Amino acid sequence: MSRASAPLNPIPVGQQPVVPKHVAIIMDGNGRWATARHLPRTAGHERGVEALRRTVDAAGDLGIRYLTVFSFSTENWRRPAAEVNTLFGLLKAYVQRDLSRLKDEGVRIRIIGQRAGLPADIASLVSKAEEETRTNTEFNLTIAFNYGSRDEILRAASALARDVKSGLRDPDITENEFAGYLDTGDLPDPDLLIRTSGEFRISNFLLWQAAYAEFLFCDVLWPDFGRSHLEDALKCYNERERRYGAVSPGGG
Ligand code: IPE
Ligand code: IPE
Ligand code: MG
Repeated sequence: MSRASAPLNPIPVGQQPVVPKHVAIIMDGNGRWATARHLPRTAGHERGVEALRRTVDAAGDLGIRYLTVFSFSTENWRRPAAEVNTLFGLLKAYVQRDLSRLKDEGVRIRIIGQRAGLPADIASLVSKAEEETRTNTEFNLTIAFNYGSRDEILRAASALARDVKSGLRDPDITENEFAGYLDTGDLPDPDLLIRTSGEFRISNFLLWQAAYAEFLFCDVLWPDFGRSHLEDALKCYNERERRYGAVSPGGG
């Protein structure tokens, strides 16, 4: 994990580390992982699913309650059709293979993003996964698939406009009420946002929700990500001081 070197504010002896309630991850670097091994990019995506399994397990063990992962963006349609098909196939296979185990482990699954653009079989599978895990409360896994934050905000604004037009509500709206129109309406904002693969950008992910998230950019490519990287990320998170625009209690 880069930039996780010497702690700036080490946790004082005897003080419990804070576990972020909601961690969001931009799972990037599958293609470069494969290319470095002279493999097709799709091999990197396949290994990326294993990294996701490891990360979900580790997040639950570490006491994180919400994990949101960026799996396919509205801009990823610009990739070759064969790669897009592989990514859709992998989502389908992941849900088909892991749903009953995740359900038994108390995981609530949500898929955020544009549903209209999904093939019918995938749309019905993700609805089934959400329905079957709706009452689970142990852990919340949210998969951003066919997701773009600007698209999400536009859909929310349209839904709000429709409600105003039909007289369901008046146009004065609070931040919390607007957040309720987003795909993430029933999720807390992310506390920590991790991006793998050494890129320093947000690529249209959770633009509204990450207003006060702590950002962590690490060099590891997503297929190599695992428990130790998540543990390092939590250590790094504990070195941050979240001020939300106020001044620190120490006046710094
Ligand atoms: C992340 O890995 C997966 C998706 C964006 C779907 P990439 O496929 O972007 O891998 P790189 O960034 O090209 O290495
Ligand atoms: C962001 O990664 C989207 C996902 C991880 C699903 P990209 O690889 O698509 O982002 P850019 O193109 O490098 O910004
Ligand atoms: Mg990428």
